[in-house]
Amino acid sequence: MAVPYQITSAEAYQHAYAKSIENPAAFWADIASHFTWKKQWELTLDWNFVEPHVRWFLGGQLNITENCIDRHLESLGNKPAIIWEPNDPEESHRVLTYRQLHDKVCQFAHVLKNNGVEKGDRVCIYMGMIPELAIAVLACARVGAIHSVIFGGFSAQSIADRLQDAQAHFIITCDGAFRGAKDIPLKSVIDDALIACPFVERVIVCTRTRTPVSMLKGRDVWWEDEIKKVETLGLHNFEPEVMESEDPLFILYTSGSTGKPKGVVHTTAGYMVYANYSFVNVFQYQPEEIHFCTADIGWITGHSYIVYGPLSAGATSLMFEGIPTWPDAGRFWDIVEKYKVNILYTAPTAIRSLMGFGTAPIEGKDLSSLRVLGTVGEPINEEAWQWYHKHIGKENCPIVDTWWQTETGGILISNLAGITEAKPSYATYPLPGIDPILVDENGNIIEGNNVSGNLCIRHPWPGMLRTTYGDHERCRQNYFATYHQLYFTGDGALRDEAGRYRITGRVDDVLNVSGHRIGTAEVENAINMHAGVVESAVVGYPHDIKGQGIYAFVVYTGGHQSDPQLTRQDILLTVTRAIGALAKPDKIQFVSGLPKTRSGKIMRRILRKIAEGEPGQIGDTTTLLDPNIVEEIKSGVIN
Ligand code: WTA
Repeated sequence: MAVPYQITSAEAYQHAYAKSIENPAAFWADIASHFTWKKQWELTLDWNFVEPHVRWFLGGQLNITENCIDRHLESLGNKPAIIWEPNDPEESHRVLTYRQLHDKVCQFAHVLKNNGVEKGDRVCIYMGMIPELAIAVLACARVGAIHSVIFGGFSAQSIADRLQDAQAHFIITCDGAFRGAKDIPLKSVIDDALIACPFVERVIVCTRTRTPVSMLKGRDVWWEDEIKKVETLGLHNFEPEVMESEDPLFILYTSGSTGKPKGVVHTTAGYMVYANYSFVNVFQYQPEEIHFCTADIGWITGHSYIVYGPLSAGATSLMFEGIPTWPDAGRFWDIVEKYKVNILYTAPTAIRSLMGFGTAPIEGKDLSSLRVLGTVGEPINEEAWQWYHKHIGKENCPIVDTWWQTETGGILISNLAGITEAKPSYATYPLPGIDPILVDENGNIIEGNNVSGNLCIRHPWPGMLRTTYGDHERCRQNYFATYHQLYFTGDGALRDEAGRYRITGRVDDVLNVSGHRIGTAEVENAINMHAGVVESAVVGYPHDIKGQGIYAFVVYTGGHQSDPQLTRQDILLTVTRAIGALAKPDKIQFVSGLPKTRSGKIMRRILRKIAEGEPGQIGDTTTLLDPNIVEEIKSGVIN
């Protein structure tokens, strides 16, 4: 049965939106009343954006896994909660019904308890896309531990930084992960990370690839052995820990304009309500449908739209271990056909890369089950939108272009599938409860339509971040200090004549490479670690498939001078070790200096224009310490 708060017409959207802006607390209290609480909340909202201080559903008690699993058991116990498609199409797939998921989460919750995990402890999860990853996440939530999932592409150094920041004493990992033709030695990466993290007490290792691993006595245990112990003890149900609404649910590290990723903190009740509400309404989920979100659970999209959103709605969530182009570029379409997928949610970068293979991989594949298509993570260009619409949706499926961020917990701006109209390359209208505004550089609100500016949000919504872990001041500085009493997104946007929003991209020093968020300062720090590098400046440039590519200007005086190609490779390896392969620059240009103002500030605007192939638009360079450097850089640009 559909939930009562599912919006079923454009008029109903207008109505809900008006109500939500008029009285947000009453609006969200009504939605929250449809969840399972151990204790009803007393105060719906308490907030100010100065500290910032945002608290939803105060005094309420609940456990999110009760809402994602237990409450469905009676009516949906035998319904598939998770369908898992392995990397290798020859291997059998797995199905976990809600009942089976319940049992596995309870079992693993016992394992966590037996290994010393307590409410409030931080548990780092570094696994491939197997059902045990979802089970680990949910088991943490069941015992009240705070999970921090780290994407499998991050390096040992990145993991160590995050473990230290979160003071995580527990790790759940796998021997390895399969991704396309590759096999990633996850445990071995963890071992390297732990050299710098002696405080880690326990590493639980799940078997997947059967890659040989070293198991340290007293610290490392096998997942399977721990489960056996629980079975021997005859432990079944795990009574969910009672959580306060504002108890942290998870930390997810994400890049900002400074060198160090920040730990975005989401809390229990507000996040749950928002992930669920946005899932049900944006995708217009119907009972019995199969929802396929192609993201990795290591990113916020996987948290909200593989795990918490769909499961809290009693949906069937399809989890895929592999990549879209392996064993061939028809893999997504094989999966859609095999499971009769109804909702497909992916990133523009995947669409653009598949477009490159033409329509042959689609031919003969039955995609008729598809009802809704979605995109997330970066702006979608019109060509990719049209291709998706025509060749995948057969001009029959609404496309939802969903704009949101790690910090927002769920989708904030998007059309609602089949309910409100789409416009290619526009996220269109805000969800109920979301009050977006545009401001100019001085923080003046830009009224009216056909305007553009910096995108801010005016009022809290339940799914927004509460703090950055261990450093609340950083949260204030980053999001609430730029403009008075506003949450600043870091994105630029324009509003068209009908009030629809189009997100134009980041206005800060954050890049969006293949839908992955990377800070330029982070990449610069990594490059600067390389011996012989004096300094560097990193900017983005338009990239046909990735959306943005990474362009690094590097001042280098080290060895290998005579072999720039080898030096480039060395630098790439340093970046891979410091962050991970996802942050490797696409282009490295060696320069003798960087354009700087007399006060020593690097003029990134100039470098950006050069990297974008628009040196004609550099503008005034007279304020530079050495204007000649610009000519040198222009003449050496890598196309
Ligand atoms: C960008 C991903 C245009 C944006 C959920 C944002 C988008 C950043 C869209 C957040 C979209 C996300 N259109 N740009 N539909 N969705 N972005 O934290 O720049 O990984 O600030 O969250 O991705 O990336 P994050």
